Amino acid sequence: MCGIVGAVSARNIVPVLVEGLKRLEYRGYDSCGVAVHQDGALRRARSTSRVSELCTQVKTESIEGGTGIAHTRWATHGAPVVHNAHPHFSHGSGEVGSRPGRIALVHNGIIENHEELRAELTARGYVFASQTDTEVIAHLVDHHYDGDLFDAVRRATLRLRGAYAIAVFCRDEPHRVVGAREGSPLVLGVAKEETFLASDAMALAGVTDRIVYLEDGDVVDLQPGRHWIERRRDDGSERFETVVREVRTVQAHSGAAELGPYRHYMQKEIFEQPRAIGDTLQGVLGITPELFGDGAYPVFKEVEQVLILACGTSYYAGSTAKYWLESIAKIPTSVEIASEYRYRDSVPNPKTLVVTITQSGETADTLAALKHARSLGMPHTLTICNVATSAMVRECKLAYITRAGAEIGVASTKAFTTQLAGLFLLTLALAQVRGHLSEEQEAEHLKAMRHLPVALQAVLALEPQVIAWADEFSRKENALFLGRGLHYPIALEGALKLKEISYIHAEAYPAGELKHGPLALVTAEMPVVTVAPNDALLEKLKSNLQEVRARGGELYVFADADTRIESSEGLHVIRMPEHYGALSPILHVVPLQLLAYHTACARGTDVDKPRNLAKSVTVE
Ligand code: F6R
Repeated sequence: MCGIVGAVSARNIVPVLVEGLKRLEYRGYDSCGVAVHQDGALRRARSTSRVSELCTQVKTESIEGGTGIAHTRWATHGAPVVHNAHPHFSHGSGEVGSRPGRIALVHNGIIENHEELRAELTARGYVFASQTDTEVIAHLVDHHYDGDLFDAVRRATLRLRGAYAIAVFCRDEPHRVVGAREGSPLVLGVAKEETFLASDAMALAGVTDRIVYLEDGDVVDLQPGRHWIERRRDDGSERFETVVREVRTVQAHSGAAELGPYRHYMQKEIFEQPRAIGDTLQGVLGITPELFGDGAYPVFKEVEQVLILACGTSYYAGSTAKYWLESIAKIPTSVEIASEYRYRDSVPNPKTLVVTITQSGETADTLAALKHARSLGMPHTLTICNVATSAMVRECKLAYITRAGAEIGVASTKAFTTQLAGLFLLTLALAQVRGHLSEEQEAEHLKAMRHLPVALQAVLALEPQVIAWADEFSRKENALFLGRGLHYPIALEGALKLKEISYIHAEAYPAGELKHGPLALVTAEMPVVTVAPNDALLEKLKSNLQEVRARGGELYVFADADTRIESSEGLHVIRMPEHYGALSPILHVVPLQLLAYHTACARGTDVDKPRNLAKSVTVE
């Protein structure tokens, strides 16, 4: 999703800005741009192509300067065309004393009152050159500008409703960039004679590892080698006060991971899962609540129920965990789609463990749902997250950091399986505190978890068989996925993977639900993918498969070794290496990831950057 980079320095900063955008590219974007202060004027280049094209444009047009901002845009308001790409310039004010073209601005987020502000600024003589909500902020800063950019931004933010992270500079103050955030991530990078802004510390890898995480209500003044932060007071006074935020040294991590022998990051990330799970479980010598942070024991002891909040693939990880939490830890669990939860009336219980699940830790819907749960009086918060420095980890009292490593492909794979590993540990820790985990059971579960990397390798070895199926799938326009119990969320995740990267319409059902409606869709043209582990529901599932075959449906079944489901006319079987008990979902999702991946390859889609999607969804 949208990315911001900004800098003030004595050297030409354009290469750093463009490199920062490249590091944010994996998040998905549809246009990009850069603006600098050059020879007393604002200069910019914008493109609806890739950042590499922007780089060529910048060189051709000799755009250089020590003060600048850059942006990757994922369109919300206005089509992905050059005139909507950021940076936006203020211009056209009819007011006395204001000169056109002096403010340059980039923005992540959504300004909810943009229509009202647009009308007001238009009446004041400002001329709009785009359909974006962002452009109102550029004009608003210009309107408040009276020789001090920091003050103008402070005053402008008081008028904004919605979510934003902004970076701004002014033609009349050549060595200054000002940033502000409310609801969208923004970090400050500190170096000896330079200061940086970015929407993610990853954008500054290789430039500085000294990072300040800005908080909602912060306005920051950047000058070469120094910065100043003020925070809007929350007493309703519209006044600001100076704050000092900790400078943290973060592990430099680069988004530019090598592809190695793989065609796409998604394939690489699928094959990294044995390593990712191994790393996620590294150091887990036994089950203890402290795996989730100091102070977890009294919280786990006190809570009566679990509320899981997440979106997309992370929501399906939560849906799988519900089965574990209720059957192993015997704790009532509800799972809510974050964007729905925050807008509905619910019945809060202060003795709830609120668990958020998020790969990025920056998903706006999940962060807002967490805040909503807290505002309802539920103080016990825990996150399962892949980014230790993310907003979510900072917001939650307890955390388990998965060690999937940077996930570049938009479609989540290794983040999902490592989330499941973290959630299984949470289940065992809650079971232990609640007296439902004997030492023998703990030892058995841990043994199975430690064997997961080996078991995953065996599943990955099925790739050639999956490729043969993918070839067939690539000619279909619809697919059904079936699963039961613990594997129903896995069927949902398989359908999501297929639709988001191959653009084949796919839906998932609990197999017992077929005859209540979706069976009407089944014809020879409808492939039906079935997750068939050898569990207590297998015999029921076999009956559901008969219902499909009887209607001419074509079945593609992932069956555990000992299920006695054999290939026959209209029934294709890929045999999974072993049945894996409660942890079976972690294995069964892998062939579904491979099926989606190879189907998308066969259809020639942009696998790592599927159309319309972004990696880190930082707007509501
Ligand atoms: C699908 C996918 C998305 C994310 C969702 C939540 O492959 O990646 O559905 O799972 O946007 O993102 P995080 O986990 O970063 O909160």
